Amino acid sequence: MFDSVARYHGDRPLGRVLDAGTGAHSLAWVARVAQSWVAVTADPYAYDALKGSHASGNGQLVLGRWEDETLLDGQVFDVVLCDYLIGAVDRFTPYFQVGILERLRRHCAGRLYLIGLEPWPSSAPTDGGQILLDMARLRDAAFLLAGNRPYREYPSAWVAHTLGGAGYAVQSVKHFGNLYKHGHVTAQLRVAERYAQKAPAGALRAGLLAEIDRVRRRAAACSELVSGVRISSDYIIVAETA
Ligand SMILES: C[S@@+](CC[C@H](N)C(=O)[O-])C[C@H]1O[C@@H](n2cnc3c(N)ncnc32)[C@H](O)[C@@H]1O
Repeated sequence: MFDSVARYHGDRPLGRVLDAGTGAHSLAWVARVAQSWVAVTADPYAYDALKGSHASGNGQLVLGRWEDETLLDGQVFDVVLCDYLIGAVDRFTPYFQVGILERLRRHCAGRLYLIGLEPWPSSAPTDGGQILLDMARLRDAAFLLAGNRPYREYPSAWVAHTLGGAGYAVQSVKHFGNLYKHGHVTAQLRVAERYAQKAPAGALRAGLLAEIDRVRRRAAACSELVSGVRISSDYIIVAETA
């Protein structure tokens, strides 16, 4: 996805970049290609994990929340990157999906690149697809029962419409089909298991763990997941503020 963002940007330097919802992937890319950068996370664990890795004179990692009106007050960037940020907002700041796009507008003096995931369908035509959906439901149920809020993905059409209302001019929306393999299911089930262990003790937790195990065995026996199952797509929205 970052290669595509670089292609959209062309030969011009990226300049000063804001990674508005950072993580290991986006930060590694931004630290490599930007002339200078600021990367923001609301997650203290991510902050601790990342703070040692890209320490350099031209970048700054910030632990903060966009609902804080003073965050990066007066700072303006040539490029604002929102990499899987919108889907994560519900987890940190419920109902702030419109607010965060409006909030970032004041920091964007050029281009916004927004990477997102189209919400998954509610049913799939094949066993492999159904296993993926069951895995995602279990993971989200485990999140909720552990006292957290799961991610909530938004369709590109909604994001593009909201960007228009927030003062950005949308230049393009491009989709990239997703292919999920067995390794993705097992990794996500490990996450589900970790959260399920924090669910209230008793039949609910035991049932959740047993169901995670069942889906793991279904996935191991599913040949379709070896070559990969196509479900949903990622998207990149390019928008400008000038
Ligand atoms: C799914 S992660 C993004 C993935 C990341 N770009 C990567 O490379 O792995 C979402 C990021 O958005 C941040 N985030 C979500 N809501 C936020 C808010 N209200 N203010 C600031 N950061 C927020 C999270 O803390 C996290 O750093």
